[in-house]
Amino acid sequence: MTSNVFGWGIIGCGVIASSHARAVLANAPQARLVGVCDIDLVKAEHLKDQFGAQFATESIDELLSSLEIDCVSICTPSGLHAHCGIEAARAGKNILCEKPLDIDHSRMDAFIKNVHTVGVKLGCVFQQRTHPLHRRLKAMLTAGAFGRILYADLSGKDYRSPEYYRTADWRGTLRYDRGCLMNQGIHSLDLLLWLIGEPVVEVAGFADHLARAIEAEDTIAGSLHFASGALASILYATSSSRSRLPHHIGIHCTEGNIILQGSQPFVEVRGEQLTFESDATSRQGHEYHVHDLIEAIDNNRDPEITGESARIAVDVALALYEASETRSVVTLR
Ligand SMILES: NC(=O)c1ccc[n+]([C@@H]2O[C@H](COP(=O)([O-])OP(=O)(O)OC[C@H]3O[C@@H](n4cnc5c(N)ncnc54)[C@H](O)[C@@H]3O)[C@@H](O)[C@H]2O)c1
Repeated sequence: MTSNVFGWGIIGCGVIASSHARAVLANAPQARLVGVCDIDLVKAEHLKDQFGAQFATESIDELLSSLEIDCVSICTPSGLHAHCGIEAARAGKNILCEKPLDIDHSRMDAFIKNVHTVGVKLGCVFQQRTHPLHRRLKAMLTAGAFGRILYADLSGKDYRSPEYYRTADWRGTLRYDRGCLMNQGIHSLDLLLWLIGEPVVEVAGFADHLARAIEAEDTIAGSLHFASGALASILYATSSSRSRLPHHIGIHCTEGNIILQGSQPFVEVRGEQLTFESDATSRQGHEYHVHDLIEAIDNNRDPEITGESARIAVDVALALYEASETRSVVTLR
């Protein structure tokens, strides 16, 4: 455990910011919440009062010039992540960036480049990867316990109301958000790609807004071809007529099968079903990510989810969009 204390700032004080504030407090005394920033000062003041930050500001420059702040969480709309992240890196701050890393190739390139040039740490949020069962399955897949991966599927049939898209003017826009895969489905897509651990080389797909009056897609169907030859199908939607339909991830291998659906996973190796003890004691979610960034700084190692790792799912999502727009098979760069 570190004896250092890391001052934390939060940029963007909307829905997800409170998860970061709570995670910082949960990591006390190694972390403490110093300042919060939002272009809407009322939101910044509210977050400050709720979690006991020292100051609130509407100026990102003021936040980043605070010498008491070592790390910042980026919780702005997705299309502003790289912009805010580059400013934070140039100010010498370590960064915990919300998903998705950004929604544009060249901005992600510039973000990662700036982080490396300055030499700060960039950790990224994908809280599905922090779940103990998922970590266990990842270790087993990496060790080859299931044999060779043949095919996989992901299906997430979610509901977001028309009102949801009106709660903030960036939601569902091509410029700042994109649609259901980039915002909501990215969690499951990242989990699938991380568990498989193979590069995607080609994608095909179709995306459309079938039920919501938004610029981007509320429904997407796609196919992935991995470098190993494995295949996967993706169906993701926020256009479903009801919420709480269980997500499904299946990974099917020469020696076994993994099905993640609802609270009961089905995992078998060579015909034998495995059971997993639930581990309620270990850090998870945003608390895990804050702790990991602190440990990465203290031990001068990479955070568990680097910018390079976090962009993989974004690159696949962008390729699926391109495939849909051009009605063609897209090769990943
Ligand atoms: N990890 C998760 O489970 C999870 C959940 C929800 C949202 N998110 C991600 O968090 C990000 C924010 O989502 P949200 O739902 O909290 O959105 P939100 O609209 O509730 O909050 C975004 C805030 O950023 C502020 N903002 C906009 N531009 C700014 C700027 N230049 N500087 C400072 N503040 C600025 C807005 O005023 C707003 O208060 C998105 O990228 C989203 O994908 C992640």
